[in-house]
This record gives sequence, structure tokens and C-alpha cells, in this order.
Amino acid sequence: MGIKLGQRRKPQNLSTLICYGRALCIMHQLFFTTLAANTLRPGVPSDIDGVVDVVLAAMPLDPQWDWRFPYRHEYPEDNYKYTKMLFEYFLDPEWDDWTVMVIEATSNEDPDVSKIVAFSVWDISYIRVLKNPEYEPQNPMREVSKRGGATRRDANPERMKAFRESGDEVMETYFNPLYGPRQIHLQILGTHPDYQRHGHGSTLCRWGMDKAREDDVALTLIASPMGKLLYTHLEFRLAGSGVIEIPGDPETNSWDAMDWDPNMHGKLEL
Ligand SMILES: CC(C)(COP(=O)(O)OP(=O)(O)OC[C@H]1O[C@@H](n2cnc3c(N)ncnc32)[C@H](O)[C@@H]1OP(=O)(O)O)[C@@H](O)C(=O)NCCC(=O)NCCS
Repeated sequence: MGIKLGQRRKPQNLSTLICYGRALCIMHQLFFTTLAANTLRPGVPSDIDGVVDVVLAAMPLDPQWDWRFPYRHEYPEDNYKYTKMLFEYFLDPEWDDWTVMVIEATSNEDPDVSKIVAFSVWDISYIRVLKNPEYEPQNPMREVSKRGGATRRDANPERMKAFRESGDEVMETYFNPLYGPRQIHLQILGTHPDYQRHGHGSTLCRWGMDKAREDDVALTLIASPMGKLLYTHLEFRLAGSGVIEIPGDPETNSWDAMDWDPNMHGKLEL
């Protein structure tokens, strides 16, 4: 009897165990698939190709990109080379006044593959400047300029200069008088066109809003027309708007200075 029961019970236990095992396996797979389907994480140097692919697909939707790089179709190699060089600095752990956050999601083409679909680059030099006001923040854009970026053939040099100067002026006019060094600055943000309107841009901004709240600093940025739609959706404040005009150049470039101050918004429901 005992043996019979044992014989009957053993296979039952085994099949039950197998069932539990399979169920656990499926749950485990589902759990990690869900995570892989939408993961927010810091970028690392090995992400360079994935990030640059998204930058080069997303940024031309911002009119400012073609305005600065009107010859990118004639010199795609320069557009690629200097974009990649800049993002290598952003992703380099030694250049830690800057941080990149990326979103990895399941590829539309292959559900077994996850890839970077959105990125954001943050200037977090305030962390050091608040400890030491004399600290000179790292400037990757200057390094790229020194390493050939100043004569890149895809760019219009006058517009590049005007863009830089306008950025400095916006900081001096709208943000520095209000916040001083207490600002996390969103340098650049993009979602691959095939993955837009899925909340990735919002997730990346909310990372910055969390950081701003944690460190009691403001979040500042200069928005593109598409970016403005996103930041308005997130209830950022429009601090000021303007147009870059260069004498003799018929094309102009518009900008919007926007910010988000945790002290003015209180606790957000994220
Ligand atoms: C701006 C950008 C990053 C937004 O990324 P995203 O992942 O599509 O953003 P989200 O899905 O989080 O959008 C959130 C909300 O912002 C608003 N929004 C974003 N893009 C919009 C668009 N093209 N048209 C209208 N509203 C838009 C909507 O309210 C949207 O919510 P909804 O989809 O529920 O209507 C993306 O359009 C992009 O890469 N643009 C080109 C590069 C660029 O301009 N970058 C910004 C530099 S400042």
C-alpha cells in the first residue's frame, strides 16, 4: 500500500513540481520581458552606437538640427563623426559632470531584441559647483571643437557660433539670475521616430524632475518646437522665447527657455 501510494504519489509530486517549475519559468520570463520592454537606465560607453543611431534618427525632426548642420547630406561622415565624438564624452564615466539616461525597449522589428529607443543628456555639474564655487565644469562641446569640430564640413560656422552665444545668453538672462548654480540642465533629448508618443520622453524628463526634487535644484532647458509640446505637457514653465537672426542669413532659428522648479510644483504624482 505504502509502496503503491508512494509510487502513485511520486509521479504526482514530480508532475506538480514540473508544473510549478514551468509556471515559475513563465512568470520569470514575463517579469524580465516586461522589464526589458521598457527599461530606464544610465547609459554606458558600450551604448555609443545605439545612442548615436537614435540621435541621428530623432534630431533632424528638430528644425534647429538642419539649421546648424545644413550640409549634413553632403557630408554625412562629418555629421556622424562629430556627433559620435560628442556622445563618447557624454557617456565617458570620467566626464561625470554629464550623465546620459537611456530607455531600452523591445524592438518593433524583432520582439526578442531590446534596443535603445530614447536618450537624454544631463549637465549635472551643479553637484561639484555647489561644493566648490571655483570649480570649472567639464565642457565636452569645447573638446569636440578642438578636435576638428570647429571646421566640420556639415555645419554652418556662423550659425554654430550664434547658437552657442544664444544658449549662453539664455542661461544668463533667464536661469542663472533665478537659480545660480542650483540647476540640472537638460542638454539634449530624443526619441527614435518609430517609438515616439509612447511616454519615453516623459519618463526621461521625470528622471530629471526626480533628481531636481532630490537635490533641491531647478530643471532648466532650451526647447525645440517638438520638445516644447512635451515640456508643456509636463507643466514646465515658459520662461522666455526668441529667435536667432544672423545678418545676411535668410534663415532663423527659434528657441524657448523652459524650466521646472520643484519648489513651485510641490510633490508630483509620478
Ligand atoms: C520631443 C520628443 C523627445 C518627445 O518624445 P516622446 O517619447 O514622443 O514623448 P512622450 O511620448 O513622452 O510625449 C508625452 C506628451 O508630450 C506631447 N507630445 C510629444 N510629442 C508630440 C507631438 N509630436 N505632437 C503633439 N504633442 C506631442 C503630448 O502631449 C504627449 O502625450 P500624448 O502622446 O499622450 O498625447 C520627440 O518628439 C523627439 O525626439 N523629437 C525630435 C528631437 C527633439 O525635438 N528633441 C527635443 C529637444 S529639446
